[in-house]
Amino acid sequence: MDECKVIIMGFGSVGQGVANAISMKKDLIYEKTGVAVKVVAAADSSTSAISQDGLDEKLLVETKKNEGKLSAYPEFGCDTNGVDVLDAVEYDCLIEATPTNIVDAEPALSLTLKAFEQGKDVVTSNKGHLALKFREVVGAAEKAGVQFRYEASVGGAMPIINLTKETISSCKIESIKGILNGTTNYILSRMTSEGSAYEVILKESQELGIAETDPTQDVEGIDAACKTVILANSLLGIDATYSDVKVKGISDISSEAIELAKKDDYLIKLIAEVSPDNLQVSPRLVKRGSSYDVSGTLNMATVKTDLAGEISVIGLGAGSLETASAMLTDLISILKNKN
Ligand SMILES: NC(=O)c1ccc[n+]([C@@H]2O[C@H](COP(=O)([O-])OP(=O)(O)OC[C@H]3O[C@@H](n4cnc5c(N)ncnc54)[C@H](OP(=O)(O)O)[C@@H]3O)[C@@H](O)[C@H]2O)c1
Repeated sequence: MDECKVIIMGFGSVGQGVANAISMKKDLIYEKTGVAVKVVAAADSSTSAISQDGLDEKLLVETKKNEGKLSAYPEFGCDTNGVDVLDAVEYDCLIEATPTNIVDAEPALSLTLKAFEQGKDVVTSNKGHLALKFREVVGAAEKAGVQFRYEASVGGAMPIINLTKETISSCKIESIKGILNGTTNYILSRMTSEGSAYEVILKESQELGIAETDPTQDVEGIDAACKTVILANSLLGIDATYSDVKVKGISDISSEAIELAKKDDYLIKLIAEVSPDNLQVSPRLVKRGSSYDVSGTLNMATVKTDLAGEISVIGLGAGSLETASAMLTDLISILKNKN
């Protein structure tokens, strides 16, 4: 393979980050794999830009930012959308970055299964289909004989899935414990350092764009629970789905509780735990100065192994280029495996 034609499906923060990252790292990808990456289509919720000869990544981002829709891309913009984009152009890999949906996993589920049916590899940052139907989706990739990688779905730029599966593949993973949601970590960190109430910090986090207008998925632990399921399935081989996780968020944590914890040198963190007998997301006390004492929007995870003891990673759980970095790493792995 000397050329890899990609479709970027979903052109928001992450999709645009992928386009920018491909533009920045094309030469590096070629150096590492001998394969030239070409973006042949990019799609948002209702429009796309499609060209078999390749699109200009920077112009895609500019068009989306300035015009709001990819149909405004010069010459190659059109109204083709959804799964139809996968029929409209020849491609090798689908880079999927549509919104996470934990009700019916769409549109990620249909897009991904269709790409597999077409014999294409898929890289995703989406949690919905993995949290609801992990076995079905991974099984479909195996059946189709294609590669499916999803590092960015847990912890954004923080390497956890590939690190655990590949770098420490000699080890059995006994459990994973960590902070898998940056927004709640930010809110709890500021409540701790400033002594302010949850509602005050949440409002400021929304103004800063760190928390969403509807913060439910983050503050009620739903986002972290999705990631818990993905880690359980992919790294511990536990056949679990979203409803198997015990979830409690941070919306009723008081500043008094945080102060009380501080007196004894503890912090309150939203901790996700993945072990054969416990899938849980809940606020927990952690010792100040321990590996769980990371603040701001950072994510962290400690992997407990049989041979290597405990290994901890810390990294940015979100961000346009940051998340794209994990997706490009997945793409590079796919290309290396093909050669
Ligand atoms: N943001 C992060 O830092 C981060 C980190 C890790 C994982 N993720 C995951 O990555 C995914 C994308 O996140 P994001 O922050 O980029 O979201 P976003 O900014 O809301 O962008 C979502 C994009 O998907 C498009 N879209 C919606 N429905 C679609 C459909 N049916 N077909 C094709 N495209 C569709 C939207 O179109 P319009 O532009 O027309 O609205 C938009 O371009 C999510 O699953 C998220 O959970 C995000």
